[in-house]
Amino acid sequence: MPQTVKGVIARAKGEPVELTDIVIPDPGPGEAVVKIQACGVCHTDLHYREGGINDDFPFLLGHEAAGVVESVGEGVTEVEPGDFVILNWRAVCGNCRACRKGKPWYCFATHNATQKMTLTDGTELSPALGIGAFAEKALVAAGQCTKVDADARPAAVGLLGCGVMAGFGAAVNTGGVGLGDSIAVIGCGGVGNAAIHGAKVTGATTIIAVDVDDRKLERAKAFGATHTVNSSTEDAVERIRELTGGFGADVVVEAVGRPETYEQAFYARDLAGTVVLVGVPTPDMQVTLPMIEIFGRGGALKSSWYGDCLPSRDFPMLVDLYRQGRFDLDAFVTETIGIGDVEAAFEKMHHGDVLRSVVVLDD
Ligand SMILES: NC(=O)c1ccc[n+]([C@@H]2O[C@H](COP(=O)([O-])OP(=O)(O)OC[C@H]3O[C@@H](n4cnc5c(N)ncnc54)[C@H](O)[C@@H]3O)[C@@H](O)[C@H]2O)c1
Ligand SMILES: [Zn+2]
Ligand SMILES: [Zn+2]
Repeated sequence: MPQTVKGVIARAKGEPVELTDIVIPDPGPGEAVVKIQACGVCHTDLHYREGGINDDFPFLLGHEAAGVVESVGEGVTEVEPGDFVILNWRAVCGNCRACRKGKPWYCFATHNATQKMTLTDGTELSPALGIGAFAEKALVAAGQCTKVDADARPAAVGLLGCGVMAGFGAAVNTGGVGLGDSIAVIGCGGVGNAAIHGAKVTGATTIIAVDVDDRKLERAKAFGATHTVNSSTEDAVERIRELTGGFGADVVVEAVGRPETYEQAFYARDLAGTVVLVGVPTPDMQVTLPMIEIFGRGGALKSSWYGDCLPSRDFPMLVDLYRQGRFDLDAFVTETIGIGDVEAAFEKMHHGDVLRSVVVLDD
């Protein structure tokens, strides 16, 4: 029997989100219904609401979640009812050209549920990143459920489902930061601070946090930043060069998604260094760079989708580091809120008041 539960939708571009009844079908072949325990508010949810991703309204928002599998459809073997899972938006297909080359973290044909969650009048919902977890329950592809240790706190480990994984992976997987490296991270929200914390865990020695908000820079220090730069009062490129012996950083992570911060990242890296764009730009944004500089500086200009993660490999590893006290996921949870408070959380994010607000349904 399809179930009617509460969920948070964005009905039209720029309008406040609303909590409404949504219909969850029984899981079909390869699908699972998950009872959501916690779901973080990511900037990408706000991008969806503002029409910055696409125009497929109405969206069912929320995509950084942990919960318990309630039921599974035919042929599902990887999870079973009762499993504690983090939801991922990279359920790899095993069959596309990336998977066949042995690089499943680039999978170009990831799985989502085949059936649609709907409004009570039958209108189909577009779940954010194929998840839609600001809801009491969500229908996903079974491969989107990554089983992890059941005694981890849902509000904390759910953040691995998007922002923290994206930031950690941008630094570690895409940027390849490691022992003795220097790294600068521009934009210290949930994503940027995860990059900073990842750089600390992997042994980077110079970790420079750049933001326009001093409160964010204070938090960045707690995550492992060795230096901070407020780019509203200081020249970020110059300061990063000064702090790296005049050269620039080995890796610069752009975690804002704007042309001016991308340009800072481009000029703030050392020769043969790597720029990683993890911030999501909007379709109208353009950058202009002297081609001779692109050539002359060498190195790599990369983008990072979801931190080039492989959920089955990376989620349990990060949960282990968390449980050992080496990766502080709790510190990303600024506040826990109810499912009716998502609009207010967007407001707080907009004003820079929070790293992550996390909707908690059952922690
Ligand atoms: N690539 C991916 O897979 C992926 C995954 C999740 C989120 N994202 C994107 O990453 C970005 C960051 O997400 P978040 O959740 O951390 O957002 P957030 O709003 O929490 O953080 C953004 C930070 O950037 C800072 N900032 C804004 N303008 C700046 C500027 N000009 N210079 C320096 N700092 C500036 C803000 O003060 C804030 O601290 C967003 O664009 C989001 O969509 C990408
Ligand atoms: Zn694939
Ligand atoms: Zn996200």
